[in-house]
Amino acid sequence: MIVGKPLFTTHQIQNRVQELAGRISHDYAKKELLVVGILKGAFMFFSDLVRNIEVPLTLDFIIASSYMKTQSTGEVKVFYDIRGDISESHVLLVEDIVDTGITLNHIRERVIARGPKSLKICSFLDKRERRIVDVPMDYIGFEIPNEFVVGYGLDYENRFRNLPYISIFKKKA
Ligand code: PRP
Repeated sequence: MIVGKPLFTTHQIQNRVQELAGRISHDYAKKELLVVGILKGAFMFFSDLVRNIEVPLTLDFIIASSYMKTQSTGEVKVFYDIRGDISESHVLLVEDIVDTGITLNHIRERVIARGPKSLKICSFLDKRERRIVDVPMDYIGFEIPNEFVVGYGLDYENRFRNLPYISIFKKKA
C-alpha cells in the first residue's frame, strides 16, 4: 500500500477551513447553528471547522457508513442520529467527502423529514466526476479528481484517518 505525497498540505487545509468558517459565520450572523458532523470521516474537518465558526452553536453527530474497502455498497447504514427535536434548528451538515452522493442524499432526506428550520451542507471534498445522485451543496473545501484519497479523516479500511493532510492512496500492483 502506498500513500503518496500530500494532495493538500496541512497548511492549505487550515487556510481553506478558516475561509469556509468565515463564510459560514457571515451567513449565519445573528442565528444559532446546529452543526452536525457525519462520522467517522468528518471528525477532523468538523473539529477544525467548529473551532473557527464565530456564531453560537450546538453540535451533534450522525454515524453512517456505506463503504466496503474502496467500493460504495450503495446501502447507507445509520448507527447514530441527531438527538431530540430539530424543528427550531438551523442545521449545517458537515461531511468529509461527497463521491457518488448516495450517503449525503440519504442523510439529507432523513434530516429534512424531521423538519429543521433550515438545512445547509458543507463538505470538505467534492469528487464531482463520480456523482450518481445530485445533492445540493452550500460550502465546499476542494474539488478533487477521481482518485482514492486518505487522511484528514478519510480512510482505507479504517486506516490513515489520523494523517493531518490529504494524500492519494494507491494499492501496490
Ligand atoms: C464515506 C464518506 C462519505 C461517503 C461518501 O463514508 O465519509 O460519508 O463515504 O461517499 P458517497 O458519496 O459515494 O456516498 P464511509 O461510508 O466510508 O464511512 P466513514 O465516514 O466511516 O469512513
